[in-house]
Amino acid sequence: MRFGYFDDKNREYVITTPKTPYPWINYLGSENFFALVSHRAGGYCFYRDARLRRLMRYRYNNVPTDVGGRYFYINDGGDVWNPSYAPTKAALDAFECRHGLGYTRITGERKGVRASLLMFVPMGHTAEVHELKIKNTSSAPKSLKVFSFIEWCLWNAYDDMTNYQRNFSTGEVEIERGGSTIYHKTEYRERRDHYAFYNVNAPVAGFDTDRETFFGLYNDWSAPDVALKGASAKSVASGWAPIASHGLDVELAPGEEKTFVFTLGYVEVAREEKWEKPGVINKKPAHALIEKFSSPEQVDAAMKQLGGHWSKLLSNYAVESTDEKLNRTVNIWNPYQCMVTFNMSRSASYFETGIGRGMGFRDSNQDLLGFVHLVPERARERIIDIASTQFPDGSAYHQYQPLTKRGNNDVGSGFNDDPLWLIFGVAAYIRETGDYKILDEQVSFDNDPKTKASLFEHLKRSFNYTLNNLGPHGLPLIGRADWNDCLNLNCFSETPDESFQTTGNRTGRTAESVFIAGMFVGVAPDYAYLAEKLGFADEAKKARAESAKMSGTILQHGWDGEWFLRAYDFFGNKVGSKENKESQIFIEPQGFCIMAGVGVEGGQAKKALDSVKERLDTKYGIVLNNPPYSEYHVELGEISSYPQGYKENAGIFCHNNPWVIIAETVIGRGDRAFEYWKKIAPAYLEEQSEVHRLEPYVYAQMIAGKDAVRHGEAKNSWLTGTAAWNFVAISQYLLGVRPDFDGLRVHPCLGGEVGKFTVTRKCRGAEYRIHVTNSGKGGSPKLTVDGKPVAGDLVPYARPGATVIVDCEV
Ligand code: GLC
Ligand code: GLC
Repeated sequence: MRFGYFDDKNREYVITTPKTPYPWINYLGSENFFALVSHRAGGYCFYRDARLRRLMRYRYNNVPTDVGGRYFYINDGGDVWNPSYAPTKAALDAFECRHGLGYTRITGERKGVRASLLMFVPMGHTAEVHELKIKNTSSAPKSLKVFSFIEWCLWNAYDDMTNYQRNFSTGEVEIERGGSTIYHKTEYRERRDHYAFYNVNAPVAGFDTDRETFFGLYNDWSAPDVALKGASAKSVASGWAPIASHGLDVELAPGEEKTFVFTLGYVEVAREEKWEKPGVINKKPAHALIEKFSSPEQVDAAMKQLGGHWSKLLSNYAVESTDEKLNRTVNIWNPYQCMVTFNMSRSASYFETGIGRGMGFRDSNQDLLGFVHLVPERARERIIDIASTQFPDGSAYHQYQPLTKRGNNDVGSGFNDDPLWLIFGVAAYIRETGDYKILDEQVSFDNDPKTKASLFEHLKRSFNYTLNNLGPHGLPLIGRADWNDCLNLNCFSETPDESFQTTGNRTGRTAESVFIAGMFVGVAPDYAYLAEKLGFADEAKKARAESAKMSGTILQHGWDGEWFLRAYDFFGNKVGSKENKESQIFIEPQGFCIMAGVGVEGGQAKKALDSVKERLDTKYGIVLNNPPYSEYHVELGEISSYPQGYKENAGIFCHNNPWVIIAETVIGRGDRAFEYWKKIAPAYLEEQSEVHRLEPYVYAQMIAGKDAVRHGEAKNSWLTGTAAWNFVAISQYLLGVRPDFDGLRVHPCLGGEVGKFTVTRKCRGAEYRIHVTNSGKGGSPKLTVDGKPVAGDLVPYARPGATVIVDCEV
């Protein structure tokens, strides 16, 4: 069942009912100011840091879900409703929400009035702009009372939710221009040098800034006193909960439409200039921002600029094929989601509160795989930030804080896959850009400037960290966990509330990870290539030898007969083996060992992938392990803490499905790879939205597995490494256009369903138009470049500005 449709021409998803199976959201903002907005106008905004500079209050895990947002109450002769349906839930004659790239437009119509609300963050500005158009679609004149509403958060979102004994007495506002501009200045009198405001570009009949007055203490969101009465109370908040509401009298002749522009802005003021006079804030910066968006023409111009920005970004990789779901995923929504993960990391979504996690070392390197072709300069910066948190021995903080860019001591280190992800990220960046100079960049360890060394030295320490930390079988030690945060083989926890990851109470020198071993073999060729490029021939030679050795070790100690083992636990027992009662097979080592080429020649790869098909595949994707753990195992950690079929205990992790998808292309089985991808790619799930429940335009981290009560139900949409890995799988391996160090590799492998297609790829300043005639048989492609046949699958990089025509038969 569908709840909307894709409008590909406008790059929008159009939701046609307010009653979707879950709030379906969008993100606004692409620089410093960001907002989350649901199809019912719920959500909030913040400046840079979702925890420390929160502008709007939002109550998570609320009843009903998703209340709190930018609401417009319309009182039409006593009949009160919202164009966003929420919060009054007055029935609408028409409803539509268009989520586009960086903007959302919600339109509701009731009893002869149509109201349309456009929300976006203009490029280069720290504000959410709301353009409200109200039209009288009836044949009689209308006399409407319209009330805007937002609730301020007292800046620190964590404090805001917990510290009421203080908060209820700190709220302060100022009111200007009769109420057209409302300022939120809580804590400005002391250490803050920023405030927020909500403005409308018209005279108002009234205003409110005190929540209790606006609603009435015992009323809920659907029945605010002020909206029901049809008159603002001109309340001035002092302590308690400051809000901002404008009251507008809107007279409309039949057919007439009026437009109002609201600006919800954030400004900073130099410390010396904070006050205009004692107790009165300096409003100059606010006035300047307000002026930029005081007319619909200015709004149109800013919207055009935003559209242009996205067109430019998205033009770096585009496919034209007969499969419109494939096209819209690759051309619009997958890269869009990748940019959102770049901006948000794992901080703020409808599943992440924005007050918790920092940036992950592992997560950030993987996200980079998905946005490096869109914003290479910013990927470069990100790499330096990440590498600066590495420890001198090559290990890494698991997380760092975006504002300070420092490692997070609470979580610490000891996730032994982390260091290798840095090589992964850097190699992807250099493939895309050819910027080898980044390897010479001087970068600190643990943010200590005295310890600066070249970025290449960081990679070397990453590589050697694995070699210096091998276990009894010669496989890498797992530490607290590897990619699977919940496989905690050295953290035996018996005490509730203890973190599974940081309770490191075993020596850590026995439990080994076959996943990290596969990863090591996978990054070794890139590392060796880069070493050679810098003239370190011995290091390159050593890396190749160690990688060959590790491949051998995997086949000797990491092979279970029909698939790759997952790990050895603290006691040296196998994890993910046919000898186990539960969880005999895991997805991760099958994907990563085969992507690295382990067992491809000897036939183990094919066997392992056939086992994946047989034991892990379901109609909604590939589960992580099977059979799931049915009880808690202290020696395995968090993985066995989840009910069967959820999360790391046999959920479908959409993040690692693409590893198997890529692995299938490594052994040439394109049709199976494409089948797997379609099971988890959002556009193909649109028809089953009642089961899947989350947005059909972005990937979710997890879909409940076959052993779960709610098989097929997704959770954790938007902020997940799934976005990057699926983009890599579809764009580089299935469609097969992949930047390599010395040229663009063109090697499609997606089975026979999609025949002819064209990929346009911009890379290193040149444009490649790649016309593929796909028989579906797979095998080596036949290429001609600008009419001349070339051997192999590599198209050498052309000079910047060139357009290269490639024909590919496969
Ligand atoms: C989450 C984490 C990621 C981890 C994965 C598996 O997606 O963000 O770092 O690898 O879970 O545990
Ligand atoms: C990852 C996992 C989650 C776990 C967390 C712990 O995000 O997906 O299940 O609780 O890591 O850090």
